[in-house]
Amino acid sequence: MPYFDAATTLPLHPLARQALLSALDEGWADPTRLYRDGRRARMLLDAARETLAAELGARTDEVSFTASGTLANHVGVLGALSGNHRKGRHFVHSAVEHSSVLHAAEQFERDGGEVTSVGVDALGRVGTGEFAAALRPDTALAALQSANHEVGTVQPVAEVAELCAEAGVPLLVDAAQSAAWGPVPGRWSLLTASAHKWGGPVGLGVLVVRKGTRYRSPLPADDRGFVDVPSAIAAAVALRAVRQEAASADAALRPLVARLRAELPGLVPDLAVLGDAERRLPHVLTFSCLYVDGEALLHELDRAGFAVSSGSSCSSSTLTPSHVLAAMGALTEGNVRVSLPTGTTAADIDAFLAALPRAVAGTRAHLEPAPASAPLVVDSIGKRCPVPIIELAKRFPTVPVGATVVVLSDDEAARLDVPAWCEMRTQRYVGEADATDYRADAPSGARAYLVERLS
Ligand SMILES: Cc1ncc(COP(=O)(O)O)c(C=O)c1O
Repeated sequence: MPYFDAATTLPLHPLARQALLSALDEGWADPTRLYRDGRRARMLLDAARETLAAELGARTDEVSFTASGTLANHVGVLGALSGNHRKGRHFVHSAVEHSSVLHAAEQFERDGGEVTSVGVDALGRVGTGEFAAALRPDTALAALQSANHEVGTVQPVAEVAELCAEAGVPLLVDAAQSAAWGPVPGRWSLLTASAHKWGGPVGLGVLVVRKGTRYRSPLPADDRGFVDVPSAIAAAVALRAVRQEAASADAALRPLVARLRAELPGLVPDLAVLGDAERRLPHVLTFSCLYVDGEALLHELDRAGFAVSSGSSCSSSTLTPSHVLAAMGALTEGNVRVSLPTGTTAADIDAFLAALPRAVAGTRAHLEPAPASAPLVVDSIGKRCPVPIIELAKRFPTVPVGATVVVLSDDEAARLDVPAWCEMRTQRYVGEADATDYRADAPSGARAYLVERLS
């Protein structure tokens, strides 16, 4: 079964497995102890740190371990803000950071800090000018991911790091998605990563704090706990191995993704490919399909033998659309992320291209034009994504050109999806209004979205 969810996690790299097994025997003792087994564990840990530091572009004593990439972001963000508190209580991050950075920002705000979120363009890329403009004299930390986890867009980290350095603001780079592909360029101050994203073991995050960066661990008494030496060794071996393979893996995977990007829109009607076509991770492709429940599509693809995931949580079971797709103004419906592991073949891509149209057709609700007498108000209150858009599309053929149709919905996703539908269908999104203007008993939270038919 083709596994196309490499951006979520990877199985252990074969060399990492070997290293882990021998380190379980050799490196089990407490590396802080002075007896022989402790010293042996210490040597292994030092070797792991050295390799990781060399691959990540840091010094050995700048590398520390956490229990996950999530935790590395939590302690990295909060520790740098705390260490630099004399400069001020302002934190800048991009709107498309991983939720762990956003959650740390929320905590900082609850504790009285101020946070600025810098928006991105329709491809998910932050503007260096916009990022620089958000920096203030009291900015204690900025954060920018190296590449986005949902759409694969690569961020201008080196340029932003330079601007931050000139402004005297430390920059934290979340490199979880790009670490396998190469070091992060530029004058960044903190870097986070996660070993299971590059074929290392799960449960090992890496935090790099460059010398000279003001940092105070947010954990009590700088507690780190007992370092998992075998995992650290396996992570280091895996990173070195994937870095050695990175250029050839990039050359093999990039054209496969380019092919998907080029061919998918012609194979499936009303499909939008998201993210930057050029400045992207080599192995990630994300698309959205109108009139499709993303979760149902993932199940359909699973039945067809493909393991893929969705960046968007727009589905019948959750009500919150992905903050990444929302920041891009992209369609959240029927969202699928394909992320190819090394070794994916052209035949795997052929099979996916053959299976997807059937899978989408299987989940797409049947679109029957509604009778001509149908009202111009589409009442989808109480119905979840993608039903409001399906109802809109059903009624649309009955709306005279120049007239306006009103979609009533209490699903947050509609706020993104109605304008995105207009963009894809070249119709005019007029704006939103109170749902009670159109239905007196509309529940609070319901909104009216107005669409003018242009053609
Ligand atoms: C960009 C990014 N940062 C951080 C993380 C968190 O890593 P972990 O799974 O180790 O908690 C992820 C995981 O998806 C990620 O994609």
